[in-house]
Amino acid sequence: MKRYSDIAGDGGSNIVVQVTERMGRLKSRMDKITHKIAVMSGKGGVGKSAVTATLSAVLAMRGYRVGIIDADINGPSIAKMLGVRGRAITTSEDGILPAIGHHGIKVMSMDNLLPLDETALTWDGPSSTHAWAGTAEIGAVREFLSDVSWGELDILFIDLPPGPNRFNDIINLIPDLAGVIMVTIPSEVSELVVMKSVSMVKELNTPIIGLIENMGSYICMSCGAEEPLFPDGSVKDMAAYMNIPYLGKIPFDPSISRALDKGQAFLTEDKDSSSAKAFMKIGERVIEFLDGGRR
Ligand SMILES: Nc1ncnc2c1ncn2[C@@H]1O[C@H](COP(=O)(O)OP(=O)(O)O)[C@@H](O)[C@H]1O
Ligand SMILES: [Mg+2]
Repeated sequence: MKRYSDIAGDGGSNIVVQVTERMGRLKSRMDKITHKIAVMSGKGGVGKSAVTATLSAVLAMRGYRVGIIDADINGPSIAKMLGVRGRAITTSEDGILPAIGHHGIKVMSMDNLLPLDETALTWDGPSSTHAWAGTAEIGAVREFLSDVSWGELDILFIDLPPGPNRFNDIINLIPDLAGVIMVTIPSEVSELVVMKSVSMVKELNTPIIGLIENMGSYICMSCGAEEPLFPDGSVKDMAAYMNIPYLGKIPFDPSISRALDKGQAFLTEDKDSSSAKAFMKIGERVIEFLDGGRR
């Protein structure tokens, strides 16, 4: 039988050593993090990053040590939402040091490595095909996992890009993922795509922590009253139909996007608003899941 190094020569055995070393490094970093949680939807623009940033703040305020990987390599938003956009990344003997966002949350985003203008990320590679770009993107996420000095953390969130495909790669890199938080808005267009993502996660036997209904109602900017935006109940029904927990409804609240645009957690100023309370209730449910010892 031919070994890989016989075919590829000395370079081949070097590659094998490098890959083995990297996987070992990734595992020893991940072993220091108690719970790894992916936030996904399938659909873009439904609030995955807003939920990741705000839920991280809720949990950090409760005393948990939290980190976030922005796995949306092409459309990074986490650095901006956590107030670390433009913060230069430094290195230590242990690896790349993550940026420290509000509430002490550790952040690694492509945004910290790109120029601060509107330059889009492009990959030089074999003909820059779509497949090559996908490989390069997951390579970047792998490095965020293996080469960043995360230290000991209670929770690491992985904020995924739209599309269900990336989940496959994540589960290969983090087989002991605690679970997935799904985000949808109450529109049939979004729910349809999210259901496909739910099926994919179930097929890979990963627990679903639950489904968040984002932008389920509207908070009036002048009077603060909460008004319905869509007919009530469709997301709850969908969660029941897919047999996954419903984690709660977050209103469309302009103070959320305003705070995130400024790189702040709106919870700091607006603790008593119904959207802050909604996030805190969802935070409780996530803690209950993690304390349930399912993983
Ligand atoms: N509940 C909400 N209320 C107000 N603005 C929101 C809410 N959820 C998300 N947003 C805003 O909507 C925009 C898109 O959300 P984002 O989290 O970037 O979506 P995704 O990550 O799913 O693509 C962002 O500007 C975000 O701040
Ligand atoms: Mg996003």
